[in-house]
Amino acid sequence: MSSQSKFMRALEGEVSAIPPIWFMRQAGRYLPEYRELRAKAGSFLDLCFNSDLAAEVTLQPVRRFDLDAAILFADILLIPHALGQRLSFVEGDGPRLEPPVSHKDLEVFRRQDILDELSPVFETVRKTKAELGADKALIGFAGAPWTVATYMLAGGPMKDPASLRMRYYREGSFIPDLIDLLVEKTIGYLIAQIDAGADVVQLFDTWAGGLPWPVLEAVSLAPMEKISAAVKKARPGTPVIYFPKGVGEKAIEYVMQPHCKAFGIDYSMDPTWAWANLSEHAVIQGGLDPLLVTTGGAPMEQAADTLLNLFHDVPYIFNLGHGFIPETPPENVAALIAHVRRRG
Ligand code: CP3
Repeated sequence: MSSQSKFMRALEGEVSAIPPIWFMRQAGRYLPEYRELRAKAGSFLDLCFNSDLAAEVTLQPVRRFDLDAAILFADILLIPHALGQRLSFVEGDGPRLEPPVSHKDLEVFRRQDILDELSPVFETVRKTKAELGADKALIGFAGAPWTVATYMLAGGPMKDPASLRMRYYREGSFIPDLIDLLVEKTIGYLIAQIDAGADVVQLFDTWAGGLPWPVLEAVSLAPMEKISAAVKKARPGTPVIYFPKGVGEKAIEYVMQPHCKAFGIDYSMDPTWAWANLSEHAVIQGGLDPLLVTTGGAPMEQAADTLLNLFHDVPYIFNLGHGFIPETPPENVAALIAHVRRRG
């Protein structure tokens, strides 16, 4: 046990009465200080590419709540943006990537040096790391290739998963080629984040749920493992956290992968099942339904207790089963953290 931060020690296998705490989407619109800075920055993209403001936004929730880790403020769609799709955010309608990717784009995308375009992100990591206490970890991240590909193919949020699956079957090597390209680009992007100061990286596969097994293996599990293996080879000390959302019992296949150090359980997964089947293979993170933090009170605390009681004898990282929604009252977040830390 060598790390100075509780978060990294949990990843090394430390079991602790009070687990380390961080939250997906811990920086964002539910925080008034975020909304203030966001208004100053102009667009969301301007905020991501302004490393002073992005570092500040990264640190805001850590300061307010004394969390055990900061997560880099950026977005999974910065890679497609750097590849050449124009990224914008339409109020109330989510992200847009224009034009949708086609097979002929891949050759141009392959030659694109995204690290130069994304250098402000690495600057954000550097600045955040310099400000962060040694007892706090800094989490870098990327979207897993499948989730990023869904946005690239649909030109925005995937409205019809069946039509995308149909395209996977119909369009020959197009989607596998796109996934391969994203694997390559994501490896370089994560290594650059680590070199700038990220202690650990997380892969978000938000749209992994609902795929039949051989497809899930091809577009989600194998690409995540390829990225993690390459990151491990290049930067051996940096753990990778997998968060493939909605994969149910197929989570076993993920935790059995040699490079899955930790696994984020989503809110739809039975935590008792996760404890029994996953926790001997990977450090478990998360599980709490973020909507319970929006509503707060005793139901939130009871759900937290269920997780803490279950995972008290294995290394565990306290977190949500997906990100906070903008309606989350910050007071409930503070109450949740106080509750978890009081139990120890
Ligand atoms: O605090 C953090 O978690 C760090 C920063 C972070 C953001 N997005 C900031 C953000 C992270 C890790 C993400 C990941 C992300 N982005 C995912 C995977 C995790 C998940 O939540 O499922 C996905 C699918 C995206 C793509 C994306 N970016 C969507 C669907 C949206 C929502 C659009 C909206 O208006 O709500 C975004 C925008 C976004 N990314 C915001 C933030 C704080 C809101 C933008 C704003 O301030 O207007």
